[in-house]
Amino acid sequence: MSMKFDIAFSASAVIDGGLAIQLKLSGDAVAAGVAEVDPQAVAVRAAGIAKFKGKALSTLDILAPAGSKADRLIVLGLGKADKLTAYDWLKAGGVAAAAVKTMEKVTVFLDAPGADVGAAEAADFATGMLLRAYKFDTYKTKKKDDDEDKSPKTVTVTIVTAKADAATEQFVSAKAIAEGVILARDLVNLPPNVLGPIEFAQKAKDLESLGVDVEILTETEMTELGMGALLGVAQGSSRPPRLAIMTWNGGTPGDQPVAFVGKGVVFDTGGISIKPSLGMEDMKGDMGGAAAVTGLMHTLAARKAKANVIGIIGLVENMPDGNAQRPGDIVTSMSGQTIEIVNTDAEGRLVLGDALWYCKERFKPRFMIDLATLTGAIVVALGNLHAGLFSNDDALADELTQAGETSGEKLWRMPLSKDYDKMIDSRFADMKNSGGRQAGSITAAQFLKRFVGDTPWAHLDIAATALNSPQNEINQSWASGYGVRLLDELVRKNYEN
Ligand code: BES
Ligand code: MN
Ligand code: ZN
Repeated sequence: MSMKFDIAFSASAVIDGGLAIQLKLSGDAVAAGVAEVDPQAVAVRAAGIAKFKGKALSTLDILAPAGSKADRLIVLGLGKADKLTAYDWLKAGGVAAAAVKTMEKVTVFLDAPGADVGAAEAADFATGMLLRAYKFDTYKTKKKDDDEDKSPKTVTVTIVTAKADAATEQFVSAKAIAEGVILARDLVNLPPNVLGPIEFAQKAKDLESLGVDVEILTETEMTELGMGALLGVAQGSSRPPRLAIMTWNGGTPGDQPVAFVGKGVVFDTGGISIKPSLGMEDMKGDMGGAAAVTGLMHTLAARKAKANVIGIIGLVENMPDGNAQRPGDIVTSMSGQTIEIVNTDAEGRLVLGDALWYCKERFKPRFMIDLATLTGAIVVALGNLHAGLFSNDDALADELTQAGETSGEKLWRMPLSKDYDKMIDSRFADMKNSGGRQAGSITAAQFLKRFVGDTPWAHLDIAATALNSPQNEINQSWASGYGVRLLDELVRKNYEN
């Protein structure tokens, strides 16, 4: 049973049982600003005794504090005031959520003395709680008998802050972000037998209830469009491919849209160039890019973003089969460029090549950003602390990098150049789909670059960050939902009017 937080903001609160959480900056006294609040004296005394300094994300847990109406009191360290970012507030919320355990009622006193707690910080804290509470246990028929599972389904949370009204308003958008991240996590966590291309396309279609316009292209339509690269990947699977096009028109009518394109390989066996069996189950997450784009569209629509946005996801399954494509095959992409397939496991770029070209031709977007669990090489190069960023546009790359720092979904820019591009020239066709082992992430990006023309474009290789995620303050799940918060931040900061 996962925890569900019912969160409200209030300018004041009376403690009557439950858990009280008090924030503390390192160096400062505990809650000098809220001296009238019940647990204050206890917290000050306990912090003194324990020499609790308020180091970032450390906690001091006091059970049944004498003289307090709270059943339990937690002092939560924030670290240094001048260094607090939006991501730090999310993490603080995550730590608070984790501490709740069996409690059913929580009161958080957010206004730590010395900290500049505005509406955004309060909303971020609440979002952190929601993200931490996420658990993918749909397929567990026997729930474990540990603390967390015995905890109540719904936890009532009151966040006490002077900026309560503004925080309540901000939380509408913040909740939309949490929902988008959680949708992306769900999609990545779902087993591949349940989430095929058709089922995924239906999840995109479901966004119509939020006012998103959704078109689904079938195999026949993609054949007419000449998407030979995408279709070549799909042909080994008994489950037919789909291309979902999501349109959110929240900006000025007629304004050029921004576009996001996602790799949606619902399962990647490698095809005829089959992968080793160890760990192959992870390849159910090879649609992490498409999941992020779908989650982002959910967020933007749910918070009524003032921007025109296109989301396109290429949904296929990469299987070995009597009808599967072979190494040596040559396919013709929608762009007219021919591709020699030298490795059927380099399939993501084939899907994206057609999706990017289609996006550019039909929508003439201001920019295109693709997200893809594209290469194992990026896992080796950057680990899971940064996603790889490749771009033909310095301004867009800078905006993305900045959004990464703010959101905590970090990016590291990687190079592109003519010399790397040469590595995918083919003896038999215009290009081949793999440049071999060396610079594997870069040559994959060079491949995509051949399908974007002059459109400002960025490619995010999220193979290490979207799945198999390290458990942290705001995510305990295998899938992180990486990309939703990053791109929501990018749009909000730079592309809304
Ligand atoms: N889906 C994989 C990349 C991947 C690896 C995603 C690990 C998540 C975790 C991709 O389709 C792939 O197989 N890439 C190959 C490319 C190679 C054949 C040129 C790779 O990285 O080995
Ligand atoms: Mn592959
Ligand atoms: Zn793949």
